[in-house]
Amino acid sequence: MRLHVADHPLVAHKLTVLRDENTASPTFRLLVDELVTLLAYEATREVRVEPHAIVTPVTATVGIKLADPRPIVVPILRAGLGMLDGMTRLLPTAEVGFLGMKRDEETLEAITYANRLPDDLSGRQCFLLDPMLATGGTLVAAINYLFERGARDVTAVCLLAAPEGLKLLEDAMGDRLDLKVVVAAVDERLNEKSYIVPGLGDAGDRLYGVV
Ligand code: URA
Repeated sequence: MRLHVADHPLVAHKLTVLRDENTASPTFRLLVDELVTLLAYEATREVRVEPHAIVTPVTATVGIKLADPRPIVVPILRAGLGMLDGMTRLLPTAEVGFLGMKRDEETLEAITYANRLPDDLSGRQCFLLDPMLATGGTLVAAINYLFERGARDVTAVCLLAAPEGLKLLEDAMGDRLDLKVVVAAVDERLNEKSYIVPGLGDAGDRLYGVV
């Protein structure tokens, strides 16, 4: 597994406003969108491309275009949905699949409650979206889900990660070089309720309200 922590003053600034409990949902959603667009630039550094011949007004030349098949962007419902527009802004031709996973609040195990993805992901490059890498249970389950269906490489894009979640990921798939994790920041720890500290609270609730 390869970890990339975005190190940029704009990311740090937007993250600070995002964390603030006084930041209301409309601003929160906008900031998530902007942050993901910044992270998407890093996350797509190894997106697959192929040569493409064009003619400019001056001459014929060969550039590059995204290769087929196009990447698949997979938000993990519910909170990952808030990251979709920011990601597809840079990858407008990507396909989008959905994975509904949630944490059983008693066992803390990840449960898949919905999926809308091709059964066969052979050779596909996947970008998994989940804002909070907390215990890591959901992300490990989602990554396994994609690799089991043949995904060729997987990049998880998260806003915040806890060291505990990163360790679980490292223990589960540390030797997989085809797995990359891109985060805006690594926080201090998890609290007794498995919330990231200092964190930003419940990302789904802050994006969409409590339901
Ligand atoms: N999920 C969240 O939304 N926030 C946390 O701090 C941990 C998991």
